[in-house]
Amino acid sequence: MLCSVFRVGRILVLMETAVPLPETRSLSGPLRIGAVEAPSRFFLAPLAGYTMLSLRLAVRSLGGLGLATTDLVSARAMVRHFNRKTLELIQSCPEDHPLAVQIYGNDAAEMADAARFLQERGVAVVDINMGCPVRKVCQNGGGSALMCDPAATIRLVQTVVEAVRIPITVKMRLGWDDSDWSAPYFAREFEQAGVAAVTIHGRTREQGFGGKVKLDGIRAVVEAVERIPVIGNGDVRSRADALHMMEYTGCQAVAIGRGALLNPWIFAQLQGWLATGEAPAPATYEQRLAFMDRHFHLLVQHRSERFGCLSFRKVANWYCRTLKPGRDFQQRLVRLESVAEFEEIVERLRDRGPPADFGRLEEMNAVIATPQGPNAHW
Ligand SMILES: Cc1cc2nc3c(=O)[nH]c(=O)nc-3n(C[C@H](O)[C@H](O)[C@H](O)COP(=O)(O)O)c2cc1C
Repeated sequence: MLCSVFRVGRILVLMETAVPLPETRSLSGPLRIGAVEAPSRFFLAPLAGYTMLSLRLAVRSLGGLGLATTDLVSARAMVRHFNRKTLELIQSCPEDHPLAVQIYGNDAAEMADAARFLQERGVAVVDINMGCPVRKVCQNGGGSALMCDPAATIRLVQTVVEAVRIPITVKMRLGWDDSDWSAPYFAREFEQAGVAAVTIHGRTREQGFGGKVKLDGIRAVVEAVERIPVIGNGDVRSRADALHMMEYTGCQAVAIGRGALLNPWIFAQLQGWLATGEAPAPATYEQRLAFMDRHFHLLVQHRSERFGCLSFRKVANWYCRTLKPGRDFQQRLVRLESVAEFEEIVERLRDRGPPADFGRLEEMNAVIATPQGPNAHW
């Protein structure tokens, strides 16, 4: 038993208990994605609307992150209608390295042009989205809709690989539904086409974000490829989850999305634990406040006070989930108006100190809005 789960009122609480160190410490070493070296095997999964430059830099400052990926970006928008929004999605800086920019679309020429464009801008890795179940992405044949026409999709991926020198990776789901786990087939074909790694979210398109991640499916993808690394993904919230996924499936790295929003220290904690064998200390209240402060100020610095406040409103609830500031402060944070207001709130929370129930890791799915069902709007 690696975790204990108990209920406090209506809230499910997950407590990590003693987690045995894996036999092999090689998991703590770097991982090569083509010519790019990821310093650790714990990656930040793309979360549209969240994983912008400010969050990536804040997470990187905590250490342990192997590779981050941007929110998905339309290849067509990048090469045909380039605008400020697209520029913001691919905004980066030298400290934001290594970085994969994720593109989506179903037109091989546009996807190849987008990859060339990103290569010229110095991007380390281009990731092709083949997993997104959202209508806006799928209705034009991108995201998980790419699974529907295997021959065209394999040609598309090959065209993108041949267009650039930088590594191309693909992020996909297990298959359309349980009747057909096509991911092992695609992974093998993509490897032949020259893809440098695949990330596999262990759910089908039909599952959307519900149900359980199927580790057997991730393992089938690992078994299907000969040499490229497979990055497992889905529902990793703790050291125990990450270790279990790596040991059960044989995947060489793990991509963490929602779990990183709950605990941005998870990368440093995993990396430190594998390197030293010492159980990491959980982040303190003061550290969590400081992280929120840094994230907010990066949002403001990269754009503007107005943008920083609006973006912060979206993430305020998941900070409140762990900081538990009480209803009044929470209401103010989700309607944040200015830097001055933010600073006043942080100062008051700092003076007040941690609440009595601080430190419990709560069930995360309720915090991050996910589309309900495969055809829902984002
Ligand atoms: C709000 C949200 C936005 C997402 N955006 C993207 C995206 O832009 N590209 C992508 O490949 N996957 C996206 N995903 C899927 C995640 O990368 C990941 O595969 C999924 O959340 C399972 O991993 P997790 O349990 O660690 O979050 C998104 C998921 C969520 C919840």
